[in-house]
Amino acid sequence: MTRIAYVNGRYMPHRKATVHIEDRGYQFGDGVYEVLPIQKGVLIDADLHFSRLARSLHELSIVMRMPERSLRAIVANVIRENRVQNGIAYVQITRGVARRDHAFPKLAKPTVVVTARHGPSLPEDVESWAATAVTVSDIRWGRCDIKSINLLPNVLAKQAAREAGAYEAILIGLDDIVMEGSASNVWIVNADGVLQTRPLDNHILPGCTRAALTELLAERDIVVSERAFSRNALTGAREVFLTGATALVKPITAIDGIPVADGAVGTVTRRLFDLFIAHAERQVRSKLQSDFSRGAM
Ligand code: PDD
Repeated sequence: MTRIAYVNGRYMPHRKATVHIEDRGYQFGDGVYEVLPIQKGVLIDADLHFSRLARSLHELSIVMRMPERSLRAIVANVIRENRVQNGIAYVQITRGVARRDHAFPKLAKPTVVVTARHGPSLPEDVESWAATAVTVSDIRWGRCDIKSINLLPNVLAKQAAREAGAYEAILIGLDDIVMEGSASNVWIVNADGVLQTRPLDNHILPGCTRAALTELLAERDIVVSERAFSRNALTGAREVFLTGATALVKPITAIDGIPVADGAVGTVTRRLFDLFIAHAERQVRSKLQSDFSRGAM
């Protein structure tokens, strides 16, 4: 089956899908993106991802003429065309193609690319979903709340993790404060047993998985402390886990080669993993049911 990508109004074979060499995404990293999880053909937490995309575009003054519902329809088409049941959809929007000049071009039209690819179904077993991490210095810019395609520090961090045989690199900022993962948010159950994650500000990405989980916790009156914590608090935590579109809720059982607590998946992480998986499964069921009752299947 030929993979299909969407580029600026056209659906085309993935291997032939290209953008111009003077695209500002290519030359300046002047663009934004989203990664949306797909399960059974259904986008998980789609509203959160589309609203973050709109915010990222707004923060960079990239003006999309295409309404959001059209973009959503394109994403749905790409998923369908590629028959992706489980995997991810990728949306990238740049400021467009223009003669190279750092300042915004007057006439450029945003470049829109949408792809989808196959991935695993939701994990069933939290133990085998667990992974390890390393810590690296956060060398990124001051607007990490924007999901920009400028990912070089994240790329270097993830590569450092890969070379150490770990899944994720946890970025450590000034004063030894834990920021987030190279592609995930970081949570701990601290030494006092309190669930904790760093508050949102311009230094980390407001994760959609983080937002969905926060809501699930609030509905159940489970307290989360949104306070910064240090690298020492991380390595001395009872439990550590990550959240993200691909990490979902991922237990971290060792950091820099040293086990977190006894190195086993903790009870809080286990519970939150189950909560998030159930949340994703609910969305799949309700979307499939509503499609079915609309006669769309
Ligand atoms: N990354 N922090 C960073 C730096 C990220 O890149 C991501 C997601 C997250 C988690 O956000 P969310 O829960 O919305 O996926 C946090 C995606 C998966 C990526 O770049 O591939």
